[in-house]
Amino acid sequence: MTPSASSRPVRSRRSVLYLPAGNARALAKLPQLDCDCVILDLEDSAAPETKDEARESLRAFFREGHAAKLPRRMETIIRINALSSPWGAEDLLAARACRPDAILLPKVDAPDDIVDVEDALAQTDAPPQLRLWAMIETPLGIMNAGRIAQCARTDGARLDCFVVGANDLVKETGVANVPGRPWLSSWLMQIVLAARAYGLDVLDGVYNDFKDIAGLEAEARDGKAMGFDGKTLIHPGQIEAANLAFGVDPARLEEARAIVAEFALPENARAGVINLDGRMVERLHAEIAEKLIARAEAQATKG
Ligand code: COA
Ligand code: MG
Repeated sequence: MTPSASSRPVRSRRSVLYLPAGNARALAKLPQLDCDCVILDLEDSAAPETKDEARESLRAFFREGHAAKLPRRMETIIRINALSSPWGAEDLLAARACRPDAILLPKVDAPDDIVDVEDALAQTDAPPQLRLWAMIETPLGIMNAGRIAQCARTDGARLDCFVVGANDLVKETGVANVPGRPWLSSWLMQIVLAARAYGLDVLDGVYNDFKDIAGLEAEARDGKAMGFDGKTLIHPGQIEAANLAFGVDPARLEEARAIVAEFALPENARAGVINLDGRMVERLHAEIAEKLIARAEAQATKG
């Protein structure tokens, strides 16, 4: 038995904004933003010579209480450098001390990359609710995605979400990243499949051209159709489009409520399949409907 998605809390992760941890102006702007989650970044957006500065700025943001003043439901995630890099160990200590909702690990190639961090956290007083997110952005990461996702099966495992790293994937493979993503899609679908096999959330990669909102909307619509839960973003101007594309559609919510209500009728208590306005509806559709309703409720708690 794999853990079913319903065994994890349903969260709204439509819009997930990267924010370079050393960027004071961007940090100051954050409380006014409508994103579901923020990823405070110590990795790709910080040049090697500014890594220590970015880490200090991150510590100050939490120590001075700014993180606590964010809109109530905004999840805070800290992206650290790989443990194998010169900055990884200190980043991990700093991130744990900040008590974010999750720590995001870059360039996860294999299950050991998760296990090593789980072990390092076990040596500290990290709270059990601290989650781990994993960037899947290398050829090995994609080839091993199923085995990496399997880390979520262990009792007390922290792994909670996969994040596609589109820019690294393009860099590592030489694939063309063109509108519609014809050459990337099969790899993206493998990542979605691996995440779903073990009940993880999964977030699509970024759209670099932040002035091209029509292009972002098209890519976000594709991402939603591929099964992603939300999109990672690089600029505040992208938040609204992601919230719309990944938000629960009111017509689908109404339909979901009708399906659940129909199965709840006493005469349908033993029915496996029913006729709803000329359409076959099975119990599995009721499960999908319940999940959609839970997602809409999670979304409604976001500011
Ligand atoms: N989070 C929060 N605020 C941001 C932001 C972000 N990711 N990106 C820009 N802003 C803020 C700016 O600080 C600016 O605020 P101000 O009006 O108070 O000065 C405002 O939004 C408008 O920004 P703009 O002038 O359009 O862009 P910019 O030149 O300041 O920044 C980027 C452009 C691409 C450098 C910046 O958006 C960025 O660093 N994005 C994240 C990159 C990243 O993390 N990459 C790694 C993961 S792929
Ligand atoms: Mg990367």
